[in-house]
Amino acid sequence: MSAFATALVLAAGSGERLGAGVPKAGVDLGGRALLAWSLDALGRAVCVDAIIVVGDERALAPALASASREARARLKAVVPGGATRQESCGLGLAASAQAARVVLVHDAARPFAEPGLFDLVAQAALEHGAALAAEPLTDTLKRVEGGRVVATIERAGLWRAQTPQAAWREWLIEAHARARAEGVTATDDVALLERLGRAVQIVLAPTVNRKITTPEDLAWAEAWLRARSLGSGGAR
Ligand code: CTP
Ligand code: MG
Repeated sequence: MSAFATALVLAAGSGERLGAGVPKAGVDLGGRALLAWSLDALGRAVCVDAIIVVGDERALAPALASASREARARLKAVVPGGATRQESCGLGLAASAQAARVVLVHDAARPFAEPGLFDLVAQAALEHGAALAAEPLTDTLKRVEGGRVVATIERAGLWRAQTPQAAWREWLIEAHARARAEGVTATDDVALLERLGRAVQIVLAPTVNRKITTPEDLAWAEAWLRARSLGSGGAR
């Protein structure tokens, strides 16, 4: 596989629910900024030849400096984010090179996406047009109104959407332009493709590719890192 994808790493936003008082991407996880974990994985992904970080360049400078040499060599631009995740993604997309066949979108808030997951999602998008990392739900879902259960949602066939997500660059550009023009907002990128009738492939992702949203998520991530380093016979 040779490189054919530009990766957008979304690192803007204020991290309100984490409550660290700084943008989430710069928060420390295991001695490094949250953002650095994703950048290093993208530095090792075979499909990626360019990385664009969307966020505040000054606030993220230490995180960018701590990324691996491979990741920094692929870093083409740092562009300011927008008011919503979707706007931030649109701004990153606008900064991507026309030559990129596939654009990968990843939340800096998911530090444990492996290089192989980026490659699988990008490859599926290259072949089929669009793809996302996702995992089957393990919880039973209830619809609740006024504090009372009104329905149980059949769990079979329900998946939890994650990032990375990827698509042909022209598909993503069209989907974002249409959403902007029509005032549509979605919490992930492939939703903007789905509404245009584009087929989106699923890539089975591990539960460990969890989004860091709350202080509990960060505590879980720290504990998971400790367990991993014990399991592999000490820090690597
Ligand atoms: N994001 C972004 N631009 C925004 C909002 C979010 O680039 N205007 C990015 C975040 O950096 C994160 C991802 O989108 O990697 C998912 O967003 P979320 O977890 O909601 O992060 P925040 O919006 O920063 O957190 P909160 O909603 O708690 O304020
Ligand atoms: Mg948010």
